[in-house]
Amino acid sequence: MEKAEFIQICRDNVTTANHELSAKILPAARKYMLHQNKGKLPVIWLETNDSGDNNIAFMNTTYPYLQQVFADMINLLYSNTFMAAQGKDALDLLFSSAKKYKGNFILVVEGAIPTKDNGIYNVVAQTKKRAITALEAVTTLGEMAGYVIALGTCASFGGASSAAPNLTGSVGVNKVLTREIINVSGCPVNPDWFVGTLAHLLMYGKPELDALGRPTLFYGNTIHRHCQRRSYFDKKDFAEKLGDIECMFSLGCIGPKTSADCPYRQWTNHVSWPVKVNTPCIGCTNQDFPDGSTPFFVPLPQKDKSTQTGAEKSGSAAKGDSNESKKNPI
Ligand code: SF4
Ligand code: F3S
Repeated sequence: MEKAEFIQICRDNVTTANHELSAKILPAARKYMLHQNKGKLPVIWLETNDSGDNNIAFMNTTYPYLQQVFADMINLLYSNTFMAAQGKDALDLLFSSAKKYKGNFILVVEGAIPTKDNGIYNVVAQTKKRAITALEAVTTLGEMAGYVIALGTCASFGGASSAAPNLTGSVGVNKVLTREIINVSGCPVNPDWFVGTLAHLLMYGKPELDALGRPTLFYGNTIHRHCQRRSYFDKKDFAEKLGDIECMFSLGCIGPKTSADCPYRQWTNHVSWPVKVNTPCIGCTNQDFPDGSTPFFVPLPQKDKSTQTGAEKSGSAAKGDSNESKKNPI
């Protein structure tokens, strides 16, 4: 499959009802590996400081399904979530795999990296002699990997794990590694964004990235650009309460400054997304999420003007939720 066709399929996937991603990409990946005499993409997956939401999102991948990804695309060498091995066996597997596939494996980091007190607030393994922190594991393995994917907003930018007051000093992967990182942000990530990025790496190498290191395949436009309520916004016709059918800019939607393809890719087997179920976009793919998105349910201009602390923001969220602000949000 030509790269241009792959890109077109990824961008159009949601507008078609025939699940192009599965129907075309998996056979293309198989054919590619056969013709290039290549095996599946070797992957080492480290979960660090996060809620585990991204591996749950990954397990919910449809078209292709999880077993298809494992069978036809990736060779998951290590994952503390998906693997059966434990303790010393698991740790030996981690470092022997990294050594064997040095320069070729994809390091997937799911979660932020605590840096305070030498990273002791996230330990990925405990030997008889010492603790191996996420900070040590990511910096060591990050230098050995062919590519590094930061999966989810915590790994990409710090996310919820680094929200104020950030007692653990958590940061995104790009703050502890000097090399280029592919950021696949989202809280959680849409499985297509991750699986599509893996497919691109397998067949064509590094995808085109935006200024924040995210694949433009999935983050090339704002939510606002393709939102089904955009005509209401253009007419300045705003919702007054959740459940109204008009534009939710008045209720704190930050789709205008959030890049992702949720309005047409959609979630949960490609059937729905936040605005479709009457929830404003809270900017979960953004570099400054969640602190930059709060107070929630307050119109963007007021949110942006806010320089208050978290506690003060909570109080002002209620004040901002007035009829006046809803009617004149811009
Ligand atoms: Fe834009 Fe949000 Fe209104 Fe949709 S609901 S048009 S994303 S402001
Ligand atoms: Fe996240 Fe907004 Fe999409 S909150 S899931 S980027 S609609």
